[in-house]
Amino acid sequence: MRFAYVNGRFFPHGEASIHVEDRGFQFADAVYEVWSVRKGELMDADGHFARLERSLGELRITAPRSRAALEHIIGELLRRNRIRNGLVYLQISRGQARRDHAFPKQAVTPTIVLTCKRLDLAAADARAQCGIAVITVPDQRWARCDIKTVNLLPNVLAKQAAHEAGAVEAWQVDRDGRVTEGSSTNAWIVTKAGKLVTRQADQGILHGITRARIIKCAQDVGLEIEERGFTPQEAYEAREAFLTSATSFVTPVVLIDNHIIANGEPGSLTLSLRQAYLGEA
Ligand code: PDD
Repeated sequence: MRFAYVNGRFFPHGEASIHVEDRGFQFADAVYEVWSVRKGELMDADGHFARLERSLGELRITAPRSRAALEHIIGELLRRNRIRNGLVYLQISRGQARRDHAFPKQAVTPTIVLTCKRLDLAAADARAQCGIAVITVPDQRWARCDIKTVNLLPNVLAKQAAHEAGAVEAWQVDRDGRVTEGSSTNAWIVTKAGKLVTRQADQGILHGITRARIIKCAQDVGLEIEERGFTPQEAYEAREAFLTSATSFVTPVVLIDNHIIANGEPGSLTLSLRQAYLGEA
């Protein structure tokens, strides 16, 4: 049986629920975090906890549990669900209150929800061996994409557009014609000159924890990195392309808007960064 954690208790997954006037449900007034779990351990735990704290701070939601308490709950959740390889999802909303856009006048207790699920690592590896297709779509999101909120409708529509086009991810393009990031991943290219390029971490993208780790891995081996937006045209002509996230790690991109990238096979730099990230180098 699957279990979920809601506000202090574990429930069978199908019975776990929140109130209809939860502000996460009513207004997307909530933040979330996703950790990958490998061999029973949270990957990049520090980075994800730090980002959670920042997201909560930006929305002025008081953390309902300490990091230590959350780690304890996550450990118990993974144990009850018998998961050693998968992901943990955490959502914290401002709480439940009569529907009114402004923050509740009287302080409410934030709602906390935790779920987890198994990931098929073999399938993810197989995908990384072939590479994936992405499309580009206009970036229709708000101006604070650096906060990891559950306000994800534009991301949902972008991902759906990708799937309908037979692709795996949609790279969002801002008004200046530059790729910001994917609907649930950060976007990267390797230029013909061998430089790694990924959009600067300003308020226009989510500051991916995997992105930060890959920048570190790349710097460690002396690669040159440019943090700037790139155009779709630059991506079509790139030597390599890939995306990163907690759940996809480093995944090669071989097709962008039906343009084959290089020879259509995952790039060697991409694959070595994936290996380095997964500690298999
Ligand atoms: N997505 N950009 C967006 C818009 C994201 O939603 C994510 C994460 C990332 C990558 O961030 P990180 O490397 O910290 O996972 C970039 C998670 C996995 C999700 O929504 O399920």
